[in-house]
Amino acid sequence: MTSKAEHVKALFDVPGKYLGPRRFDIEIRVETVHEFTKNLTFDRVLDIGCGNGAISLPLLPRCSKLTLLDISKNMLDLARRRVPPERVNDIQLIEGEFLGADAQQESFDLILCIGVLAHVDSPAAVIARVAQLAKPGSWVLLEFTDAFHFWGIQVILYQKLLKLVRPEPYALNRLKRRQIENICQENSLKALALYRYGLPPIGASLFMDQEQMYRVTRYLFGPSGRNRNGWMGNQFIYLLQKT
Ligand SMILES: C[S@@+](CC[C@H](N)C(=O)[O-])C[C@H]1O[C@@H](n2cnc3c(N)ncnc32)[C@H](O)[C@@H]1O
Repeated sequence: MTSKAEHVKALFDVPGKYLGPRRFDIEIRVETVHEFTKNLTFDRVLDIGCGNGAISLPLLPRCSKLTLLDISKNMLDLARRRVPPERVNDIQLIEGEFLGADAQQESFDLILCIGVLAHVDSPAAVIARVAQLAKPGSWVLLEFTDAFHFWGIQVILYQKLLKLVRPEPYALNRLKRRQIENICQENSLKALALYRYGLPPIGASLFMDQEQMYRVTRYLFGPSGRNRNGWMGNQFIYLLQKT
């Protein structure tokens, strides 16, 4: 494991630090995944960086087998506890780094890679591997943040300030929308749908609870099936198809 991966594991091994403050965002991700896949059924689904499983476990009624993969043991333990007992035999749990995990090429009908690209050593290598594992004609849900969009600049400034007082164990990848879109195209992943939104400004949690942050975000950017003001948002959730 690289030293960055060790830092990522250590960070997410305290799941509450992510799951608490981002509950409203996870809800938006869950609903967007539902919206983009609601008419589809799947044989095999892979959730890379599954966290507590909140995003892919709701797909169980529409899929035969689900693989939950995460580098963090504690996150994976949370996901394990949410598996319905009657589906235990249909779930594979893999603890480890995605690029090091064993998997057969062209074996998945749906792959989720949500909230992961900012944390990996090479986003390009991850997308290329996702494309390798996806069956031709299958689906990929890819989420990332465009760090160079004006909505994200406040976050970069805040992180720079924070670094002065509390050095970060690792730097988040600063991704650009065009860069990620080009890598997807090079790997035969064609964009079919997009939900684009922005998170409330830093410090919003001081005066808004999770429900209010959810409502403000939805008010500005619309429901997952009717995205509005997308140009203002720096969070991208793409539905892609492997061609
Ligand atoms: C920001 S959280 C997102 C969790 C979930 N997908 C969601 O959107 O709520 C990132 C998750 O990816 C995992 N992760 C990060 N890098 C990883 C890697 N290289 N291999 C496997 N899991 C990874 C982390 O442990 C963490 O659970």
